[in-house]
Amino acid sequence: MTPSPVLTATGLVKQYGALRALDGVSLTIRAGESVAVMGASGSGKTTLLQCLAAVIAPDGGSIVLTVPGAAPRELVGLSEGDRARIRRDSLGFVFQEHLLLPELTAVENAALPLLLKGVRRQDAERHAAAWMATLGLAGLETRRIGQLSGGQAQRVAIARAQVTGAPVVFADEPTGALDSATSAEVLDALLFATTGQGRTLVMVTHDADVAARCSRIVRVSDGRIVADSAAASLSSGGAR
Ligand SMILES: Nc1ncnc2c1ncn2[C@@H]1O[C@H](COP(=O)(O)OP(=O)(O)OP(=O)(O)O)[C@@H](O)[C@H]1O
Ligand SMILES: [Mg+2]
Repeated sequence: MTPSPVLTATGLVKQYGALRALDGVSLTIRAGESVAVMGASGSGKTTLLQCLAAVIAPDGGSIVLTVPGAAPRELVGLSEGDRARIRRDSLGFVFQEHLLLPELTAVENAALPLLLKGVRRQDAERHAAAWMATLGLAGLETRRIGQLSGGQAQRVAIARAQVTGAPVVFADEPTGALDSATSAEVLDALLFATTGQGRTLVMVTHDADVAARCSRIVRVSDGRIVADSAAASLSSGGAR
């Protein structure tokens, strides 16, 4: 049985002045997939990810987001505020530069999306600490971000992307700043936390080894999808 679509993009266009960063992209992403988006620098990967994630608004086309327990939502044409609510309620994010707040502790950083949703601090931090423990970070809760290694900080960012239970997680070069051993560990954590829990992962990466661990590879060139295939390993998700 084919899993149901969570994101359906049709004819996406994003224009920066004279440049078409996205030139008619159509893509359907189904529940539980891990999709690696690859392509040369400047090809439009981040632009595509940010449109799908309701971070930026495309100039044309359609993106329908369907998450469990909610009616399908058209993202194109929504106000900034509506997009922010959808990001907060349904989506998780992990970036290359983990974007953690240095003045907060690790557990406070991981708990942030829950605090922003109005969850009580104690409950939010308990839940965040549980995710940290799952990702191998027990005992590091009260460290500041500057006192963590790059791989540990990135796992805090992964915990932060999971705490709300977001059904779709977006990652833009989540292992881009890490050495290869740490990169493999962080990828294990990310796949376990997302597809391993039945969630959907959409990830930009330059790293063919990282992409090969995803269930599908989408290649972008000059703002268009030029290839779309199951990855060689075809693991249906989860850590090795
Ligand atoms: N805010 C912006 N204003 C103007 N042009 C932009 C903006 N963001 C991206 N672009 C341009 O759009 C094109 C696609 O950019 P994008 O960031 O999506 O590339 P990318 O594939 O993610 O590249 P990289 O691998 O270097 O991160 C590039 O030519 C880029 O210069
Ligand atoms: Mg990019």
